Amino acid sequence: MRETDAMTTVGEVPRLPAGLAEELDRQAERCRPSSPLYGFLLRELAGDVRAGGIAAGLLGPYDNEPTAFVPGLRLMAAVHALVLGGQAPRLAAYYPSAGGHGPPDRAWPEFRRVLHEHTERIAELVAQPVQTNETGRSAALYGGLLTIAAATGLPIRLHEIGASAGLNLRADRFAYRMGGRLLGDPQSALVLDEPWDGLPDAPEGTQVRVIERLGCDLRPIDPATPEGALRLKSLTWADPARIERIGHAVAIARATPATVDAANADEWLASRLADPVPGAVSVVWHSVVRQYVEPDRWRRVGAILAQAGDAATSAAPVAHLSFEPDIGPDGLYTFAVRLTLWPGGRSRLLAIAAAHGIPTRWQTEER
Ligand SMILES: C[S@@+](CC[C@H](N)C(=O)[O-])C[C@H]1O[C@@H](n2cnc3c(N)ncnc32)[C@H](O)[C@@H]1O
Repeated sequence: MRETDAMTTVGEVPRLPAGLAEELDRQAERCRPSSPLYGFLLRELAGDVRAGGIAAGLLGPYDNEPTAFVPGLRLMAAVHALVLGGQAPRLAAYYPSAGGHGPPDRAWPEFRRVLHEHTERIAELVAQPVQTNETGRSAALYGGLLTIAAATGLPIRLHEIGASAGLNLRADRFAYRMGGRLLGDPQSALVLDEPWDGLPDAPEGTQVRVIERLGCDLRPIDPATPEGALRLKSLTWADPARIERIGHAVAIARATPATVDAANADEWLASRLADPVPGAVSVVWHSVVRQYVEPDRWRRVGAILAQAGDAATSAAPVAHLSFEPDIGPDGLYTFAVRLTLWPGGRSRLLAIAAAHGIPTRWQTEER
């Protein structure tokens, strides 16, 4: 029995190496290319923390948290929720997600005013867990499913741990435009444009047939409710492309049933993988979840997978597909897409991806 590669870096998420302000600066740099507004605001937040301003008060309690706590994203999501909920109309004028067109570099005074006016509510929202649903990561998931379908020739029972609202459980209902061809569901309203560099290891024409969509999360979000949809949007950066994608994904989720149970990853997986199911491949998928699960629980997830792998047969294979960051000592993230397939337990690095899945660079070398 062997835990898979994606399991082995458990417990290695570093502490904020040089403090809160530096982490906010790093986050600003990560956001800047696709969301200038978030880039500017996070940089101002870093300055405000250094100056001991309102942001220092809101985020100070988390100064000693691991980088994975992503304090900047929590604060941005808290304010975004107020913007989308209509409670910060003057700030909304700068948010593309709320129809605003104001210049991003002028938004800070209004943003700071909102921090002062809604401090208590923002502090409550900052304390809530990060529950991004990034449909761009479906680009990696769908390519991984193609690889698994090609290798097994079987339909797929898809299990996602840390599924949040379960949007990516509908990865086969999204479309992927590659070189003029539409893969996935060509009728889909959600089209990911040229999401890959290279191609996954699957012959042209490979079909992905998902026959079960099951997930778990500590706090599932129901995309069918208005509150659930608003929370999903608030956790997404305010740039138009990602907000539009979330809107389409919520509509697709409403039309394509999937079950996301409120459960801890290890306990849920143990019950789901208890017995081999012939005639289908049982795929366990997770993206950006490892850093949020206690190390002991995560080790158990690895042990449960390895045990299910031992019991797998060619009629009832098991696959572990993961999209998780390797975090360097410098705090920089590299997102790796890894697959282990049983029987046999062969592990492969399938791809290196951007944090939000696009582009996913398929690896040709065996690693
Ligand atoms: C950053 S989100 C990622 C969501 C989604 N997989 C994605 O890639 O967009 C991490 C999710 O893991 C969930 N989570 C954290 N600890 C968990 C645990 N012990 N068991 C199940 N889910 C957990 C959180 O509630 C959250 O929804």
